[in-house]
Amino acid sequence: MTQTSFTPRVFSGIKPSGGLQLGNYLGAIKRFVGMQGSMETIYCVVDMHAITVWQDPKDLANGTREVAAGYLAAGLDPAKSILFNQSRVSAHAELAWIFNCVARVGWMNRMTQFKDKAGSNAEKASLGLYAYPSLMAADILLYHATQVPVGEDQKQHVELTRDIAAKFNHDYGVNFFPMTEPVIDGPATRVMNLRDGTKKMSKSGESDMERINMLDDADTIAKKFKKAKTDPEPLPETVEGLATRPEARNLVEIYAALDDTTPEAVIAQYPGAGWGTFKPALADLAVAKLAPISTDMARFMADPAEIDRILSQGAEKARAIATPILQKTYDIVGLLRD
Ligand code: AMP
Ligand code: TRP
Repeated sequence: MTQTSFTPRVFSGIKPSGGLQLGNYLGAIKRFVGMQGSMETIYCVVDMHAITVWQDPKDLANGTREVAAGYLAAGLDPAKSILFNQSRVSAHAELAWIFNCVARVGWMNRMTQFKDKAGSNAEKASLGLYAYPSLMAADILLYHATQVPVGEDQKQHVELTRDIAAKFNHDYGVNFFPMTEPVIDGPATRVMNLRDGTKKMSKSGESDMERINMLDDADTIAKKFKKAKTDPEPLPETVEGLATRPEARNLVEIYAALDDTTPEAVIAQYPGAGWGTFKPALADLAVAKLAPISTDMARFMADPAEIDRILSQGAEKARAIATPILQKTYDIVGLLRD
């Protein structure tokens, strides 16, 4: 079997820990929607990844529904994409165990996300947080996914997925798992914190002012952009002028991603503009693009039974793909099964 014999298939996921923020939308969900329809697309709410750090059970259940509501509100359609939550398909955990036995401790030790999250207290981190990339590899390879749209921060994990696939194929003398490609494109693969342009926007940052939450109302969005940190210079005449200006570059990239255009086009539209002009324009654009999504998210979240039904039906479709791949893996490894 050659690499090209794998059917193109997209898989990606988001953790239900804390609410969705603009980085999740621009770096992931909006791009998931863009890939829908062109090939088979599978989008997961990765609840088993969330519990690698403590989650209150009620918050976890609601958080899972909230990410699903975000998917639906942004335009993912259960008739076109498989939408489900990870824990409903037990094959993820089963394949992850096999991959724990393929991946090497030295590989895990190089993972920068583990180092960032565990910090100086790595001894107290859960074993799950350490093994997390192996579960992520299982998520992807359980579907023989060939493409994984993610933000820049996940590149290393997708590369590790390829290492696991290659070692499995090599050790067992098969060409069973594909070499999955990370898809990291567009202007907003790394949306930065609004108070510090050198740090990534995340759900867990200290201050709410540093991120735009998907459920923020219009006034809050406007206030956060107006208070966003910038340098005192106006926008440059060309994008090259943004290279050493992380905060300015971030706001231009957010504008470009929201408006489906490029940073070059944004600079061409606002050459030399002051922040008093650009920030309100960005705030208006963000409100225009995000308000319909947050309204729709709230509508979906008001009907949790409907979300649960969609996730359950999605899980059934996911299982139909995953089960034969897991069974074949067991056969390759020599694990007896019924
Ligand atoms: P997480 O919330 O960590 O589960 O991330 C889910 C997806 O959103 C992944 O593909 C991340 O790379 C992406 N993502 C999260 N934060 C950002 C950000 N600040 N900029 C771009 N993509 C992001
Ligand atoms: N690790 C990803 C993150 O933190 C989430 C994730 C889990 C994922 N499994 C995945 C992303 C599979 C893409 C494919 O953002």
